Amino acid sequence: MAESAIGGSAGRTSHEEVGLRFEVDGEIATITLDRPDRRNAQTFATWSALAHIGETLPQQVRVVVVRGEGPSFSAGMDLRMFTPEGIPGQESLADFALLGESAFEQRIAQAQQGFLWLRRPDIVSVAAVQGHAIGAGFQLALACDLRVLADDAKLCMKEPALGLVPDLTGTKPLVDLVGPSRAIEICLTARVVGAREAAVIGLAELVVAPEDLAGAVGDLTAALLTADRDAATATKRLLQGARNRTLEEQSAAERREQVARVKALFAGS
Ligand code: CAA
Repeated sequence: MAESAIGGSAGRTSHEEVGLRFEVDGEIATITLDRPDRRNAQTFATWSALAHIGETLPQQVRVVVVRGEGPSFSAGMDLRMFTPEGIPGQESLADFALLGESAFEQRIAQAQQGFLWLRRPDIVSVAAVQGHAIGAGFQLALACDLRVLADDAKLCMKEPALGLVPDLTGTKPLVDLVGPSRAIEICLTARVVGAREAAVIGLAELVVAPEDLAGAVGDLTAALLTADRDAATATKRLLQGARNRTLEEQSAAERREQVARVKALFAGS
């Protein structure tokens, strides 16, 4: 098992201090949102820590599991950020509103770095979701390649109801998975999507009983690791690009990846 801390000019903050646990066991890394008393609410410090984990992920890791401690996966952004007092030691939304547009966008871009790396082709990310996944919580689950849901999971894109847009990279995967019409309906009504519906509309690969969630994620992880490492990376890269390519372009991409694979397999023989 290995753990790391978040470096920075202001010193080092442990993941625990921002409510995260990070554990590595061979080829599997597990990130646990660990503030169950606040239903794993997220802050800018959470997103910096997630970005740091992505930047320093040990090279041997092939699967990253993202899970939440307690009854909820995550209740989304810490609502204290809406208050004038904010969160001690962190900027509030009121502070951000005073920034220039470009500086504010830069802060959002930093937060998004905590989510974007989960799509890297050399890893597969799996969200294990029980209970509520609201706002930033739903977006964190959407940032992962795969979602395994406990049957008590409740997904909700609350941002528009609070006067915001979902901006933590969740809108593209949501539209890719359910289409623009369903995405508009889910976001603008801020309704709860339950686990069974999530599976039917493509938001979950698997739905299991809450007590089976860890076991199901373990089984899925083991199955993912049976693929050859380089072939898995090349295949994920190929599949990720498919939607934005024509059939001819995708066929050409398949050829390029396969030539590289076969050459690597027979190198030196
Ligand atoms: N921020 C800070 N604290 C939170 C929180 C949040 N988002 N969600 C829950 N908590 C705290 C509660 O205040 C409560 O604290 P106390 O024990 O000190 O009173 C504790 O966590 C437990 O909460 P509940 O008693 O409400 O727990 P529950 O299991 O009955 O309900 C819940 C869980 C449905 C998630 C409910 O807590 C809830 O609705 N939370 C707010 C969800 C929300 O609106 N999130 C913002 C989403 S928008 C977003 O995320 C913005 C963005 O990305 C840009």
